[in-house]
Amino acid sequence: MALRFEILGRFNRARAAQLTLPHFVCQTPLFMPVGTQGTIKGLATNQLEEIGCQIILGNTYHLALRPTSELIDELGGLHQFMNWPRALLTDSGGFQMVSLLHLADITEKGVTFQSPVDGKPMLLTPEESIQIQNRIGADIIMALDDVVKTTITGPRIEEAMYRTLRWIDRCIAAHQRPHEQNLFGIVQGGLDPVLRDICVRGLVDRNLPGYAIGGLAGGESKDSFWRVVAQCTAALPEDKPRYVMGVGYPLDIVVCSALGADMYDCVYPTRTARFGTALVPEGVLKLKHNAMADDARPIDPTCACMVCRTYSRAYIHCLVTKDAMGSQLLSYHNLYYMMKLSRDLHTSIIEGRFPEFVCNFLRIMVYFFT
Ligand code: GUN
Ligand code: ZN
Repeated sequence: MALRFEILGRFNRARAAQLTLPHFVCQTPLFMPVGTQGTIKGLATNQLEEIGCQIILGNTYHLALRPTSELIDELGGLHQFMNWPRALLTDSGGFQMVSLLHLADITEKGVTFQSPVDGKPMLLTPEESIQIQNRIGADIIMALDDVVKTTITGPRIEEAMYRTLRWIDRCIAAHQRPHEQNLFGIVQGGLDPVLRDICVRGLVDRNLPGYAIGGLAGGESKDSFWRVVAQCTAALPEDKPRYVMGVGYPLDIVVCSALGADMYDCVYPTRTARFGTALVPEGVLKLKHNAMADDARPIDPTCACMVCRTYSRAYIHCLVTKDAMGSQLLSYHNLYYMMKLSRDLHTSIIEGRFPEFVCNFLRIMVYFFT
């Protein structure tokens, strides 16, 4: 194991912890921005540090295609390649293929897909995913899992869950650097509590350094999503980090943290920025709206970020469809918002005022929607 997880405070099921990884000491709950080609689109690594970002996510699938894991390895690993001194996590690649390439097909051997480079059929096995992630060198690496959409029903959900359990053993056997990199298992099983329970027990038996809850945020209702998270967090070990994959929206992060989850990742804050949307305490602010054209206020008058201290809504409105700087400034603000939300969750849990924080968060946001 190459991590330490110390719980510093609790409120009912919510926890605030210190997660010590090989490259950084992180405070949880935490949000991980998603970088695809070894970059968070539009932001330099020194800006990510300035925002307070502790750990970022890279995609094995994208990095393996370009610049290739061999080249990253030769150039000293992904930390050195992208000049990021803090923590990194890589996802195993299967999920990206299934969600990006509709041509992907899953068999017991692994995930087969058509190469977007030359169209040739390629196969990503659990062994290969781990070998690639060992070369990339992230602090946390993810097991290759068989992911199906939660909106699908029937025997495919059960097949994917049992396959994910068979693949975890192949991932564990292939992992060459357990003292430098932490392999997390991923709980699958769709919306079925029996399947989720079998998967959690199976993974916990393998005594991994951390556990992720996968297969969510794929179109199921909030009620179903929160139920699965509640069930899994209740059954996972207290003393290991719990990561809800592909989440999310600020509200989901607050709810999942109340349910005892610690880590999150999502493209949402940076993707929505590229569409001209800012995250604010009331919900969202659409900078493209004509009402922004002559608005001299900052995006969020209560935000202390560089963008809110420097630029008006009118200026960003003017940039947003015309220049890349518009989406860069919005990405900066949106990630700052997510980092502040993570810090506020952490400190409110430690200081025993988590319920007040949640009530206030909801009051401001609900007010906006009514
Ligand atoms: N990203 C979002 N959800 C998932 C999932 O279920 N598995 C993997 N590997 N990555 C994800
Ligand atoms: Zn701001």
